[in-house]
Amino acid sequence: MHLLDLPSELLIALLSYLSARDLAKVCQTCICLRNLSRLDTLWRQKCRKDYKLKSNKSWNASYFEIYSKVLVKYGTLIGAWKTMMNCYGGLFNVTYCLGQILVEEYFATKYIQDNLKSVPWFSISLEDGEATVKCLQGFDQPHPGDVKFDQEEVADGRHTMTTNLICLSSHQEVNEDSVEFQRWMEQEKVKGTIPELLRIKWQLIRNQKHQLKLSPLALPPLTPDRIIQTGLFKGSYSAHGTELLMLSYSEEAHEIHLTKITGDPNVPAGEVSVYVDLRRPMILNREQQESLQTLRDIDTPDLPPEFDGNMNLSQPFIVPSQCEEREDCKDLPKYCKARYHSKGQIAAFGYQNPSFSNNHWVMFSEDVFGVLWLDLYSFSLFNRIKEEFKIENNLCHLQTS
Ligand SMILES: *[C@@H]1O[C@H](CO)[C@@H](O)[C@H](O)[C@H]1NC(C)=O
Ligand SMILES: *[C@@H]1O[C@H](CO)[C@@H](O)[C@H](O)[C@H]1NC(C)=O
Ligand SMILES: *[C@@H]1O[C@H](CO)[C@@H](O)[C@H](O)[C@H]1NC(C)=O
Ligand SMILES: *[C@@H]1O[C@H](CO)[C@@H](O)[C@H](O)[C@H]1NC(C)=O
Ligand SMILES: *[C@@H]1O[C@H](CO)[C@@H](O)[C@H](O)[C@H]1NC(C)=O
Ligand SMILES: [Zn+2]
Repeated sequence: MHLLDLPSELLIALLSYLSARDLAKVCQTCICLRNLSRLDTLWRQKCRKDYKLKSNKSWNASYFEIYSKVLVKYGTLIGAWKTMMNCYGGLFNVTYCLGQILVEEYFATKYIQDNLKSVPWFSISLEDGEATVKCLQGFDQPHPGDVKFDQEEVADGRHTMTTNLICLSSHQEVNEDSVEFQRWMEQEKVKGTIPELLRIKWQLIRNQKHQLKLSPLALPPLTPDRIIQTGLFKGSYSAHGTELLMLSYSEEAHEIHLTKITGDPNVPAGEVSVYVDLRRPMILNREQQESLQTLRDIDTPDLPPEFDGNMNLSQPFIVPSQCEEREDCKDLPKYCKARYHSKGQIAAFGYQNPSFSNNHWVMFSEDVFGVLWLDLYSFSLFNRIKEEFKIENNLCHLQTS
């Protein structure tokens, strides 16, 4: 009996056990060509299982075409990424959107309560039967781009990859009167960065503006039993605007690390902004918090000797009067859940002479905390990023064929 004489349900059930690679080989023996529409249900399963593509709506193509022309090469892009090409860094998410793969940058606005905003960088679509990469930056029509994957091994033996999205057209040299510059300024201003620093940023990034080097954004494991859950946060960095950070724990869980996903010319992306020493909690009353000088002198844990780590650390909270004029010190809660000694990284422009200054980490809730920079006379607030950043799919599922 010929394979094709089997009832189609049975044939499909049999073939569904094959990997996409083997299925593709079977297709070369022309079963697929003979009845593509019948086997496309299988490719639909493969698209969903291997690359989480749920529907071919708006693609104007069969699942077999999408899988073999687009996903085999570009499907690993789906998910969350970061870039560290310069001090500014960045957070990216790659999704399926209207019949294409869309590479978008996510950024926070000046008001850290707001949702993240996004701006498209690249798209990958199927045109005339071929995957086509386009650069969506610049003010002209979308124009040709390319993607290159590098594979590199990380310490624990797991493979990870970086990817370069490259614009193949040269963008015109843009000066500060140009539409492109004005548009960029409008987009950047919402992050709360002051215009002087934006001009510096423009100078620094415009040479590499249309190339993107991405590496997977691996979120730390969840930590239900610790004081605060790991995850992504947005925080106010005064003149630099709102930056994005990742909260994780040190190996022994004695410290919280706040690592920059986006950075600035003082402390760049990839650096730890704040270390929280969980072995040094404090319980302070209001009077102790009225002046920064008093706070600076609080050195040792001001806790009863019976402190056992499960103690209720709830306590009053006020911002010292020297910080009062600052916008981000208004409307804060009058109590916090806990307060710890911490260290914040500061540096001169160009990450010169980095050092750590004493500060206090103040936790208000699972989603909100603050950092009181004792030497900088400032209190900055951090909010958890609630939008979902899926990461399952971007750790090297690179096809080897
Ligand atoms: C393809 O499969 C469909 C049902 O799945 C069937 O109706 C059709 O006759 C088949 N065509 C060929 C050429 O085998
Ligand atoms: C859909 O794809 C077919 C074949 O690739 C092409 O001829 C047709 O123009 C496409 N339709 C649209 C709306 O893109
Ligand atoms: C989706 O794929 C099916 C075959 O599985 C095909 O018949 C249909 O036209 C495709 N849809 C679009 C929008 O191209
Ligand atoms: C990131 O992309 C995934 C799909 O890859 C999507 O489910 C998720 O909602 C996206 N996150 C944001 C914040 O848009
Ligand atoms: C901790 O103490 C505060 C008052 O100091 C109280 O309101 C709160 O309910 C206490 N929480 C727990 C879990 O005991
Ligand atoms: Zn371009």
